[in-house]
Amino acid sequence: MITEANDSNISAAADALRAGKLVAFPTETVYGLGANALNAEAVHRIFQVKGRPVSNPLIVHVADLDDLSQVVTLDSKLEERLALAAQFFPGPLSVVLPRGSRLPDIVSGGRDSVAVRVPDHPVALKLLREAAVPVAAPSANRSDYISPTTAQHVQDCLGSRVDLILDGGRCSVGIESTVLSLVDETPLILRPGGVTREALEEVFGVVGTLSEHTSPTHSSPGLLAKHYSPRCPVRFCTEVESSKYPDRVGLLRFNKEFVAEDTDRFVAVRTLSSDSSLCGAASELYSALRELDAEKLDLILIERCSLSGIGVAIMDRLTRATG
Ligand code: TXA
Ligand code: MG
Repeated sequence: MITEANDSNISAAADALRAGKLVAFPTETVYGLGANALNAEAVHRIFQVKGRPVSNPLIVHVADLDDLSQVVTLDSKLEERLALAAQFFPGPLSVVLPRGSRLPDIVSGGRDSVAVRVPDHPVALKLLREAAVPVAAPSANRSDYISPTTAQHVQDCLGSRVDLILDGGRCSVGIESTVLSLVDETPLILRPGGVTREALEEVFGVVGTLSEHTSPTHSSPGLLAKHYSPRCPVRFCTEVESSKYPDRVGLLRFNKEFVAEDTDRFVAVRTLSSDSSLCGAASELYSALRELDAEKLDLILIERCSLSGIGVAIMDRLTRATG
């Protein structure tokens, strides 16, 4: 059930979380499907509702740095790294740190590390403060479908399987948080997202990415090759010749000037951020993909965007959508 995120509904949602229920709530990135992270049974329901493998760990959401310290185990070196990362809190950055002893195994898929973040959204922060428990929350979609950036997306995908959906409007960032491991000396980006590598390097100096490191101690279990996908097949424009187009083809492009071969053959076209800003494009990306997917197309063609700033995260999601 969708309810407006006013004070009394947020309080009711906080009560529901404490009572072991599932609450979908807005963050600045995407909507999350939350459960009390200290309640293993409630967390187990998240996996069931999403159809998510239990080996894929969840992100724990807290309202501030003090709460964060209570769900991880820190030594002095980790404290220093966390203090640097905290410059991005609240914000679209999840940090992976050694797991605190209070958290049940299921939250982190049995791993000894846990991802934690402080979301930059007034509704999420109020909910977390009132619930007064850490909240485990993946994106509120069925596993391997497109992440939700509106309450209606959550309703369409999960409907009555969620106890309550708080409607806080459209998510401003529109793409998931950057997942950054702080476990080793050099911070490692496990998933590109709302905080760019450039911004992290300004604070940390050198920052690695998973594609540069293939160490077995580092993996991002959630990053399956096929993920974030519409039901309809998706390809980059450059990969399909116009002579091979099926009947119903849609186009997702980054600006109006982009014209693919045979543009008049597209039955649906979505243009992300007509002012060609990548942040604008990120915030519209998942809605546009869902809209195109609803058109019952045979193929969605996608323009590539530049691999700078948040463009890295956009291209990561689009590449996964092509499977
Ligand atoms: O923006 C976001 O991060 C959203 C909102 C709701 O906060 N949440 C989100 O959660 O995207 P989810 O479950 O869809 O993605 C979590 C990602 C997965 O790729 C998962 O594998 C990774 O974080 N992750 C979680 N815990 C981890 C850990 N201990 N080590 C490595 N990766 C971890
Ligand atoms: Mg997800």
